[in-house]
Amino acid sequence: MEWWKEAFGPWYPIVYNTRDDLGALKEVESAARWLGLDRHHDVLDLACGGGRHARAMIPLVRSVVGCDLSLDLLRIAMSAGGGPRYVAADQRALPFATSSFDAVACFFTSFGYGESVDHDKLIVEEVRRVIRRGGRFLLDLPHAEYVRSHLVPESSEARGLFVVKCSRRLVGNRVEKTVVVSEGGEIKSTWRESVRLYDAAEVTTLIESLGFRTNSSHSSFNPVATSHDRHIVISEAT
Ligand SMILES: C[S@@+](CC[C@H](N)C(=O)[O-])C[C@H]1O[C@@H](n2cnc3c(N)ncnc32)[C@H](O)[C@@H]1O
Repeated sequence: MEWWKEAFGPWYPIVYNTRDDLGALKEVESAARWLGLDRHHDVLDLACGGGRHARAMIPLVRSVVGCDLSLDLLRIAMSAGGGPRYVAADQRALPFATSSFDAVACFFTSFGYGESVDHDKLIVEEVRRVIRRGGRFLLDLPHAEYVRSHLVPESSEARGLFVVKCSRRLVGNRVEKTVVVSEGGEIKSTWRESVRLYDAAEVTTLIESLGFRTNSSHSSFNPVATSHDRHIVISEAT
């Protein structure tokens, strides 16, 4: 069951409305430093969603392409404009020539979706193919230990007229979430999300086995963060 083909539809921007352009701008400040971005670089925003990071990277580099599978989110990205080019594609089969990009960035938990690690290997293999030698890859994952120790089993939040209820549980090395959006007691949409929690060593080993060398890893985009809830790996194509 490829849950990600259902989850990133028209309700996603309502449910995840706190993941906005301002947040992306701040994340890109750190990302640009770690990736060493400059005006000569061509960048791929892998699984770009509504394009918030792609737009934020435009002033820093030569070109940005955003790619995503969700036509609903790509429509939002394209209507916002701002300079990036957008392509509908599966990250396991990228429609780009070999060595097209100086950097590839995959922000906000867009990895670990498939039931087996082979799914994720296909993504990293494609990234390695489209990135130039010496180019850098940013992979932004949830911090596995943080998720395990801070899991909120149930939550309910208002989003304008809608109520978003989430239930979360740990199942082996995955975190599963069920999202229910309702209005006036009537269910408007519901879906399930399931993400593999990679331990630091596990993801580093995976990336390094497929033609990258780890440069650095970070537990937040915020240099003065008090909460260390991300695992961001910066690696270099060898
Ligand atoms: C959690 S969202 C993050 C979106 C964006 N990076 C952001 O930070 O706003 C995950 C994104 O991955 C995309 N996605 C999931 N599986 C994909 C696949 N196989 N190929 C391309 N995009 C995929 C979804 O459509 C969604 O836009």
